[in-house]
Amino acid sequence: KKPPARKGSMADIPEDLMEQIRGLEVLFTVSPEKLRAVTKHFISELGKGLSKKGGNIPMIPGWVLEYPTGKERGHYLAIDLGGTNLRVVLIKLNGDRTFDSSQSKYKLPHHMRTTRDSKELFEFIADSLKSFLEEEFPKGTKEVLPLGFTFSYPASQSKINEGILQRWTKGFDIPGVEGHDVVPMLQREIAARNVPIEVVALINDTTGTLVASLYTDPAIRMGVIFGTGVNGAYYDVCSDIEKLEGKLPPDIPPTSPMAINCEYGSFDNEHLVLPRTKYDVMVDEQSPRPGQQAFEKMSSGYYLGEIVRLTLLDLHDQGFIFKDQDITKLKEPYIMDTTYPSKVEDDPFENLEDTFDLFQKDLGISTTVPERKLIRRLCELIGTRSARLSVCGIAAICQKRGYETAHIAADGSVFNKYPGFKERAAHALNDIYGWGIDDPAKHPIIIVPAEDGSGAGAAVIAALTMNRLREGKS
Ligand code: GLC
Repeated sequence: KKPPARKGSMADIPEDLMEQIRGLEVLFTVSPEKLRAVTKHFISELGKGLSKKGGNIPMIPGWVLEYPTGKERGHYLAIDLGGTNLRVVLIKLNGDRTFDSSQSKYKLPHHMRTTRDSKELFEFIADSLKSFLEEEFPKGTKEVLPLGFTFSYPASQSKINEGILQRWTKGFDIPGVEGHDVVPMLQREIAARNVPIEVVALINDTTGTLVASLYTDPAIRMGVIFGTGVNGAYYDVCSDIEKLEGKLPPDIPPTSPMAINCEYGSFDNEHLVLPRTKYDVMVDEQSPRPGQQAFEKMSSGYYLGEIVRLTLLDLHDQGFIFKDQDITKLKEPYIMDTTYPSKVEDDPFENLEDTFDLFQKDLGISTTVPERKLIRRLCELIGTRSARLSVCGIAAICQKRGYETAHIAADGSVFNKYPGFKERAAHALNDIYGWGIDDPAKHPIIIVPAEDGSGAGAAVIAALTMNRLREGKS
């Protein structure tokens, strides 16, 4: 990794651009007071999501009804359907808080995200599973392998091996799946190929992250994803989940823990508290599903580059930047993914030479030094806002459950790759709580890198499920 970039002097920026930068700072800065107001509203929305009437945040019970002990053992398969790849993992849980795994990735054909034929998607998954097993077990297997299916979209579950897709998020759009249970769709294709696999659990990536990390670290209280999407999972108690009243099988005691996939990317769909700018409104209006995922659209990796693009385009249209440049490419929606602001923030040069190359090569725009300094400041602002807003979900859950100290397991491309994200997130938590402690390692609530949720997490959940089945529990 390069050394942290120097901020560079702003002295050589002409006054009209400086004025724009100051305007952007006002627009995109989220104060500690605002963070606390967002968190407060978040807590009440989480509560509504658990009520019978429901609210904006789905708060989906995930039917993981115990904490892993770390003693789970055995061989399990796990699959994770991400945006670009299908990952298949074979995991051996060793029963001593450790695990071994081997995996393969199968590239999702480009058109698959939006194919018109949903059968094609499940055929692709089953074919990949078949070739994975042929590689791992050339002589075949005697036993049927239990599989945990990580499906990172809002899916309702009335039991663990069920997932009725509520709606696609993050740009996926395949007809005929919303409103349907994806487990039988997959199991049918597996059976058609005579592959000895049984889908025993459907898992959200956040729930997998929670459970995988708890398997190795007992201080974990939440699993969160800061990636293409943003979301979190935690354990609640069945008796505190009003909407479960009358729906719990009789052998599950009300005191039982229950993992909840919050789906809090949809927080504040009513637009009551989030500090939306006109650019956020445009992102929403131009998206395939306007009015949904309000929180996610301001903070997750799928949208950060797009917010930067819309802001730059607006500054250009007002005559402040890129004068006499051909901006045809910049006009293309989503041409700037999160790697753009990420690279701009990583640029170590005083005059932002990497940023010059980025805009020149990819967008055909020749930027001036003052323009690049504006772009850098804009990316800092949007990256910082994302980190600051993102942690409101963590603060809200911790306050709701009364956790004064906690480890929060985090995963996702933005958390792992976006420069400064971790520091900014820790700083924002400090602002919300007013701990006044500079060193993030000394914070009572610490965000730590997660264990492999969609691999190990899915396997641990499959193991917990198999144990329950063996004991004859529902
Ligand atoms: C989106 C999905 C959610 C997932 C998150 C992170 O918000 O709806 O299920 O957990 O992205 O991948």
